[in-house]
Order: sequence, then structure tokens, then C-alpha cells
Amino acid sequence: METAVLDLIEQEKSIPTSEENLGDLEEEECFFQDIVLLLDLGIALDDVKRLKDAGINTIKGVQMTIPKKLLEIEGFDDKKIVKIKEACTKVSFVNSFTTALEVDQRNQIFKLSTGSKAFDKLLDGGIESMAITEVFGESGSGKTQLSHTLCVTAQMPGPNGYIGGKVIFIDTEHTFRTDRLRSIAYRFNLDENTVLENILCARAYTSEHQEAGVFKLLIVDSIIAHFRVDYYGRKEMAHRQHRLGQLMACLQKISEEYNIAIFITNQITSNLNNLEQGDPQQPVGGNILAHASTTRISLRKVLNGKRIAKVYDSPNLAANEVEFTVTSGGIDDIKIN
Ligand SMILES: Nc1ncnc2c1ncn2[C@@H]1O[C@H](COP(=O)(O)OP(=O)(O)OP(=O)(O)O)[C@@H](O)[C@H]1O
Ligand SMILES: [Mg+2]
Repeated sequence: METAVLDLIEQEKSIPTSEENLGDLEEEECFFQDIVLLLDLGIALDDVKRLKDAGINTIKGVQMTIPKKLLEIEGFDDKKIVKIKEACTKVSFVNSFTTALEVDQRNQIFKLSTGSKAFDKLLDGGIESMAITEVFGESGSGKTQLSHTLCVTAQMPGPNGYIGGKVIFIDTEHTFRTDRLRSIAYRFNLDENTVLENILCARAYTSEHQEAGVFKLLIVDSIIAHFRVDYYGRKEMAHRQHRLGQLMACLQKISEEYNIAIFITNQITSNLNNLEQGDPQQPVGGNILAHASTTRISLRKVLNGKRIAKVYDSPNLAANEVEFTVTSGGIDDIKIN
């Protein structure tokens, strides 16, 4: 799975997009400054290519990468790195007048609807960009159906000028279903084929190109499945956690660099000790996931097919819970008859 994510970064850039996307891209352009701009400031084409090969495509991406990491790139030394960093500062400065508003990046943050108004309210609007939102819960609690719902709502215009965008779905459990997506698209009165066209399923990912700014949501369903199979037993735990940490850092960087929402699903372990605290569900993944996820939501099944979403950990949300339901049209509010 890590390879899949890294491939996504490496392959970023860029074929002509459809006409309707061009306007959107212009709006996003000043946020996503391509490193080809460094060519005008005396940085060699080979070095720009090497940065791209290392998965660094934007000025912000260079600024976010520590020199130690840049030193790993073939042919890069301290002197070159200083020169590149200085050039990045100049590019940022030249564009600082057009990007003055954008310095306040909070303005850029958007929120994606879960499909349920109550659930959105719990999240203060929905799944947030520039952050990692994690849901965990027992089998059948609705993690995958929520992932599918977000694939559709991410394509719809939303509050604060959100124009909608494309989705990357990394399916590690082989539960990605186009028929599920069609039903959800139907619920929201969207053209089913167009909705499917806007979702890139990473299992089938080969050479299709991406354009920074077009993608708004990256889903990993589930984040932990492969790790639990690949690393087994206590002895391998440290190694597993290290790799998981690297992956989460990579996702965090993607979310900030490209202003996209990251949505991951996680599994649970039932711990009887927690029953006393009224919460038998514990997410797996230990401290690494706990620290890396911005917001953690637990899902559980209750009677009559209802589900409960509860804020498990968040920097800004109260630890409330709400009821919702899972339908063929995706996540929805409980209808009161
Ligand atoms: N098209 C559909 N119409 C109605 N209900 C559905 C549909 N697809 C899935 N469900 C139901 O939604 C519920 C949630 O399923 P989902 O696959 O989202 O669970 P999950 O939390 O991802 O479980 P797991 O941990 O096994 O992956 C299940 O009860 C399932 O039967
Ligand atoms: Mg699932």
C-alpha cells in the first residue's frame, strides 16, 4: 500500500485537463506553484526533474521537505539545497502579492459532507481538508459506505465557494464497488458515469496522470489491513509502527501540500477492560495512528440498523455522538416518521 501512495506522489503531473477544470485550476494556481518556476531562477532542468522524481512537485513541497531528506536525492549537496531553497523563497515572494489572501490558508480549507446532516454537524461541517480524518468501528458499522458516500459528495459544490473535485480511492480490502457508487450518485441526482469518471481507484492505478488542484479527497480503506497481515507478532511490531508512521507522515504532507482531505478507515480491537469505561471499541495502530490522525471518529452498530458516530479524539470538536443510518444511497440521517 505504501508503494501505491508513493506512486501517486511520484506520478503527480500532468496532462491537459478537460475544459471545465481549467477555470478551477487557474483559481488554484497560485496555491500550487509548480517547481518548473525554479528554471527561471537558474535551477538546472536536471535538478527540477530529480525533485519531481522524488515526488516533490510544488514550491511548497520543497519548502516543507527538510534538507536531510533532500540530501538523499542523487547529485544534491548542501550548496545546491541552499540555492534551491533560496530560489523557492524568491518564487514565493514574487507571488506574494497575488497570494496575500492565501497566506491565510484557513480560507482554503473546505469540508466534505458525510451525507448525514447530523453527522456533518458533529464534525462542525464535515470531513476537513488539510487534515487526516480517521473512522474506526466494527465490521458493518459503515466505514466503507461512508468512504463511498464521500467519493460522491466530494464532487458536489459546497459551502464557502467549494467547487467539487476528484477523488483518489486506495482500496486495500477489495471492497470498492462501482454499483454502490451508482446508487449514491442516483440519490444525489448526479450522472452516474461522470461520478465514476472522477474517482481514481488506486488498485487499478497505472499511468493515469494527476493534476494538482483537481483532487480534493484521498481515501485509504483501510489504512491498517495490509500492515496487520505483513507484520505479525510482537517482534515485528516496532518495524510495523515505523512504516506506518512513515506512511502517515506522507499522507499528512500530501494533505497540506495539495490542500486535500485525507479520509482513512481503521479496524478495532475489543478490549474488555474498556467496557468499564463504557467503550469496548479501541482503534488499532497504537500511538502512531493516534498522533497522526487529526480527528478520530468511532462508528458502532446499535438496534434497528442504526449507527452511532462519536468523536473519539479531536483538537476542536466536543466528544459528542449522533445517530445516522446506512442506506443504498449512502450515509444518511435517521428519518423520523
Ligand atoms: N448498497 C447497500 N445498500 C444497503 N446497505 C448496504 C449497502 N452496501 C452495504 N450496506 C450495508 O451497510 C453496512 C455497512 O457496510 P460497510 O461495508 O460500510 O461496513 P464496514 O464498516 O466497512 O465493514 P468492514 O469492517 O467489514 O469493512 C452493512 O450492514 C452493509 O450490509
Ligand atoms: Mg469496509
